[in-house]
Amino acid sequence: MQCEKVALVTGSSSGIGFETALLLARNGFHTYASMRNLEKSKGITEIANTEKVPLHVVQLDVNDDRSVKEVISKIESEQGSIDVLVNNAGYVLLGSIEQLSIDEFKEQFETNFFGVVRIIKEVLPIMRRQRGDTIVNVSSSAGRIGLPLNSPYVGSKFARRIIRIYGIRNRTIWNKNDIDRTRLYQN
Ligand SMILES: NC(=O)c1ccc[n+]([C@@H]2O[C@H](COP(=O)([O-])OP(=O)(O)OC[C@H]3O[C@@H](n4cnc5c(N)ncnc54)[C@H](OP(=O)(O)O)[C@@H]3O)[C@@H](O)[C@H]2O)c1
Repeated sequence: MQCEKVALVTGSSSGIGFETALLLARNGFHTYASMRNLEKSKGITEIANTEKVPLHVVQLDVNDDRSVKEVISKIESEQGSIDVLVNNAGYVLLGSIEQLSIDEFKEQFETNFFGVVRIIKEVLPIMRRQRGDTIVNVSSSAGRIGLPLNSPYVGSKFARRIIRIYGIRNRTIWNKNDIDRTRLYQN
């Protein structure tokens, strides 16, 4: 299937990001399946090669300013546009306030909230120039209802809800727990 659109998905090494990147590529989007550890790219690369879908694996750590800038500029120079951004990367930090350090709390927000803002800031000028298009922020039911022993995660997912962008379709999606199919609780 041919499609001129370009998509970037964060956290594509497993779970929702893995499936979303493949879904977009299967629908003809030139899809950049990004992950912080390229050693985890074998599975998605093999499927994409077998199915001959337009999927490119790139290294991207959402916590790292330089990594984000480099990837966005690489995609812009290769494709000239970014039409769809899926902010999926995230992890769960479990524990009570007494058990967790301030640094652990900060790290959770660094990935789950500031990681999203960091990427949107780099992608927005490109989307504004091309009058595009769609940003999807993967939140959680924990971004709507508090849970015990989940304060950092719940806080970071509630924070994702406040992101508002004028002139761009910006959707927040809420997943319910799918414990069987995620690596969220192992990461
Ligand atoms: N599955 C569920 O039940 C559920 C429910 C509610 C919300 N969610 C949300 O859905 C999203 C995906 O979760 P999932 O279930 O698919 O979990 P997953 O299988 O653990 O996938 C999470 C992805 O995020 C990546 N990641 C973590 N920190 C990163 C960083 N600093 N830079 C780049 N990538 C990073 C992980 O990379 P590594 O492989 O390198 O660790 C992995 O690719 C998360 O935002 C999660 O909060 C999931």
